[in-house]
Amino acid sequence: MRAFIKKISHPFLKFLFNKYHSKPREYSYKDVSVLVHPDVFPPHFTISTKILLDFINELDLTNKSILELGCGSGIISLFAASKGGVVTASDINPTAIDFLNTAASKNELKVNALFSDLFQNISQKEFDYIIINPPYYPKNPSEMKERAWFCGEDFIYFENLFLQLIAFIPNSSVLMILSEDCEIETIKAIASKNKLEFLKVHETKVSFERNFIFSITKTD
Ligand SMILES: C[S@@+](CC[C@H](N)C(=O)[O-])C[C@H]1O[C@@H](n2cnc3c(N)ncnc32)[C@H](O)[C@@H]1O
Repeated sequence: MRAFIKKISHPFLKFLFNKYHSKPREYSYKDVSVLVHPDVFPPHFTISTKILLDFINELDLTNKSILELGCGSGIISLFAASKGGVVTASDINPTAIDFLNTAASKNELKVNALFSDLFQNISQKEFDYIIINPPYYPKNPSEMKERAWFCGEDFIYFENLFLQLIAFIPNSSVLMILSEDCEIETIKAIASKNKLEFLKVHETKVSFERNFIFSITKTD
């Protein structure tokens, strides 16, 4: 579905998509609702957020410490908090953090929302779960909202991510969602340079696109 949005090239479809996204839109999962700013990753059409929500719905998160790295709208973080998790939500996009703080008040849920480039402003050194739905198309983002989609033409997001992630493994369980539409082998190779490997824990096919949730562990 992210692939579909990326490939919208017909001017009229592009016009409709941009028009839909020209103002904040509500997104809900079970009893939790967020308002998604047009500059923030839209979970409405992209399937990855919903797959992660369904996946964590099956986990016992009571009193578990959780980091959602790159939280976007914050729906996953708020839902995790509603299931009893002690949640930190971070993003490089300050608008995402502002809107998440408002949504946390409205939902009467507690989330520690932090502006951070990857782990830069995150002082806690281990979490029970680290959840990541990364930007994965190899192009340089030209503005903040494009950071939701593009990891840099040389995959710099993943180069930095895996370098920093090593410190959190093995004390944290790291879950990352990727689609068959992205360059999974390139991403795995970058992980492997840092002695990290992917173990598939979930696979779903939605609208002709296969999505995978991987657990990331140390190779040795
Ligand atoms: C694909 S979106 C996922 C949003 C949300 N987790 C979800 O599943 O709906 C990727 C998110 O990562 C954030 N991001 C991109 N680069 C980042 C970085 N270097 N540090 C922190 N967050 C980053 C983007 O702003 C965006 O919100």
